[in-house]
Amino acid sequence: MKKIDVVLGLQWGDEGKGKVVDVLTPAYKVIARFQGGPNAGHSLHFDGESFVLHTVPSGIFREGSMNIIGNGVVVDPVILMEEIRQIEATGIDITHKLKISRRAQLIMPTHRMLDAASEAAKGKSKIGSTLKGIGPAYMDKTGRNGIRFGDLLLQDFRQRYQALKDKHMGMLSLYPGFEFNLDEYEAKWMQAVEDLKRFPFIDSEIEVNSYIDNGVPILAEGAQGSLLDIDFGSYPFVTSSNTLASGACTGLGVAPGKIGKVYGIFKAYCTRVGSGPFPTELFDQTGEFLRREGQEYGATTGRPRRCGWLDMVALKYTVMMNGVTELIMMKSDVLNSFDTIKVATSYKRGGETIYSYPYDGGVDVEPVYETIKGWKSDICGIRNYDQLPSEFKDYVTFIEEQTGCPVTIISVGPDRDAIIRR
Ligand code: GDP
Ligand code: IMO
Ligand code: MG
Repeated sequence: MKKIDVVLGLQWGDEGKGKVVDVLTPAYKVIARFQGGPNAGHSLHFDGESFVLHTVPSGIFREGSMNIIGNGVVVDPVILMEEIRQIEATGIDITHKLKISRRAQLIMPTHRMLDAASEAAKGKSKIGSTLKGIGPAYMDKTGRNGIRFGDLLLQDFRQRYQALKDKHMGMLSLYPGFEFNLDEYEAKWMQAVEDLKRFPFIDSEIEVNSYIDNGVPILAEGAQGSLLDIDFGSYPFVTSSNTLASGACTGLGVAPGKIGKVYGIFKAYCTRVGSGPFPTELFDQTGEFLRREGQEYGATTGRPRRCGWLDMVALKYTVMMNGVTELIMMKSDVLNSFDTIKVATSYKRGGETIYSYPYDGGVDVEPVYETIKGWKSDICGIRNYDQLPSEFKDYVTFIEEQTGCPVTIISVGPDRDAIIRR
């Protein structure tokens, strides 16, 4: 039986999913996003140019690819139209390369307002949301109030929109002192939904299953990372969707048995943006160095990312939860100059040693590290695994032994070409 392969992040997002999807796309015909929304920022670099995609699948720049925004995604039409214009400016005929699920939910302007109001009200305990309206939009989805792409074509769309907006306005009045200017964004939003009507709104679950059944190679693209999963991440410091491989089933309408390869992407170290526990976070010069060397600033918000060592407790947990079949290691080049590299293999809290990812995501734990010898050389130009320094291969072997999963692709720079396949 033919299957659908999945690409997803194993840490707290920004692992390099955009690059990996772009690299893998030549082997696939169809790329489908299955969850999240414009909280995602997926960067692509090729031919001296850089792009950041928020909603459009990262296969869009490859010739002959079809790109689907699945039912599990929440879409801000204004942001999507901005992306579409940016892509069209490169000469790509996106009209024939992009389809949107009728069942994908719309992020309304008032969802963004609610996100901002809710975060402001949380004060110090804020999630550190990207403020794109993700939480409120998913709340309306599960609360069975949401507006979907298919609704845009209904006669009474405006009434539905107005009814939900009125409800949101009532909720916003509960946040005293919160000011916002809705009119301007709403006008842009209404224009954007009109502009989007030139794209096919499809029953993507039917189309995706028919691709699978007909042997058309198809890749599902995740957003965020497993440790931001609504059920299994460091709750409440998570996003509002299931970012795990299981999210590809619900977010595209694919049966579990039809999932093929699961490519789990991780950085050779860790980063996190926003609030929440991060056991291996470094607050010293090494953390600063990783941020500078890895250019660790949010692709969506520009916020500096928190940086730390690789966390094997967390990685083993997410490899397990996703049924990862192949690991892809990113940003290996960022560690080029280290004498030694640390990897957390357990945590300590009180007198207790913790080996599996804890309920609270590791609040106040102290990581227990293994120290590994660094390779201390520039690997950016290497394209053949055999030419990598032995210390680098030892690092890879260590990760494979710990996770029980092969590392099949290694990324050694932001560019599309900076890749080593085994
Ligand atoms: P995504 O959200 O998972 O797609 O990741 P982001 O695009 O938010 O962040 C990854 C960042 O790392 C981007 O700026 C990429 O260009 C960059 N990047 C990806 N792979 C590599 C790599 O192997 N080395 C270096 N130095 N940068 C990389
Ligand atoms: P990609 O796809 C990194 C984080 C936010 C915040 C929390 C909730 O680029 O890897 P939300 O806006 O969803 O309410 O924010 O999740 N977050 C991400 N962090 N990469 C992302 O996406 C993220 N999307 C959300 O910083 O802590
Ligand atoms: Mg990102």
